[in-house]
Amino acid sequence: MSGPRLSEGMARLGTETAFEVLARARALEAAGREVIHLEIGEPDFPTPEHIVEAGVRALRDGHTHYCPAPGLPLLREACADHLSRHRGVSVLPERVIVAPGAKPFLLFGLVATCDPGDEVVYPNPGFPIYESVIRWAGAIPVPLPLTEETGFTFSADDLAARLGPRTKLVILNSPANPTGGVVGPALNAEIAALLRDHSCWILSDEIYSEMLYDDQHDSIAGHDGLLERTILVDGFSKTFAMTGWRLGYAAVPAALVEPLTRLLINSVSCTAPAVQLAGVAALSGPRHEVESMLNEFRRRRDTVVPSLNAVPGISCATPRGAFYAFPNIAGTGLGSKELADRLLDEAGVAVLAGSAFGSYGEGYLRLSYANSLENLEAGIEAIRKVLSAERPIV
Ligand SMILES: Cc1ncc(COP(=O)(O)O)c(C=O)c1O
Repeated sequence: MSGPRLSEGMARLGTETAFEVLARARALEAAGREVIHLEIGEPDFPTPEHIVEAGVRALRDGHTHYCPAPGLPLLREACADHLSRHRGVSVLPERVIVAPGAKPFLLFGLVATCDPGDEVVYPNPGFPIYESVIRWAGAIPVPLPLTEETGFTFSADDLAARLGPRTKLVILNSPANPTGGVVGPALNAEIAALLRDHSCWILSDEIYSEMLYDDQHDSIAGHDGLLERTILVDGFSKTFAMTGWRLGYAAVPAALVEPLTRLLINSVSCTAPAVQLAGVAALSGPRHEVESMLNEFRRRRDTVVPSLNAVPGISCATPRGAFYAFPNIAGTGLGSKELADRLLDEAGVAVLAGSAFGSYGEGYLRLSYANSLENLEAGIEAIRKVLSAERPIV
């Protein structure tokens, strides 16, 4: 007798290639190879000391038990206050829900809003979890291509062409992973005007909202009336270098507070209270470390982009936010996956294929510049060598 089978949904659930490439890179390292890690999307800085202290103090003070499922009132208030002050959207604390990371809101956002057969518009190339959870929910993924010509955004016409009577949810992500593209107030106003006529939910993933190099962040939720339909997702992982703490939050429409809370009760019960108190310290404490991390990312970006542009066959637009470069590799004549695999195998440089972020990412690589300038320069030099051997410069 054959063993029991997995559920059908598991065949539709995707993954995040960054974790797979990281595992391959670690296996190479275990076998004695040196690897430069440009694959994983997490700040390479330690969590600021005052935040660590607040977490440790909270543990010592006995915050070691279950707490309210949607989050500690103190953190929900701090998040609402933060969003109201920095995002131009007036949010009540009871509309804020806390979870272990921003990621749960992607899965639970889908589960709470979409039935099989509903259409979901999502950015492509985009964070791979979007397409993964859309497919798992049995909804129909409708990719919204992000093009290099539009600064890795899209036009209102592009979006309009993908909206229809079955559109149930539109996922937006600015600043964007993997492209560093940023949607500004003018396009957001056009998007808002379009969505006004469609009765769909919006999930706005704003996890990189405090990582913009030249612009001020503009949230779609701040545009007329959309706050009542938008799951505004944010978190602590990127801004405060807290990826391992697992802490995120979302400001959600009134109708979604109870369903999302119920999903948390069914899954994680609550988010560790000591971690939440560290989050309160992050939002209410000094900002200079956040600013110096961003300055360092800007310095790296300004080195990485010209260095990549000097590599034969590669051209790289300047990302306006987040900490990823998304170079166009069409001139190399190689496919994204083939080149990414060869860079790891031949040069010990771990990067991600653009195609890992969706079909429209083919022809690109993603390099995370959350690594030292020294490693970034060594990594790009190794890439140059692999490509020069491939296509001798004449
Ligand atoms: C666009 C985007 N959304 C969400 C997340 C998940 O964030 P968290 O670590 O807070 O779950 C990431 C992490 O890479 C991301 O890039």
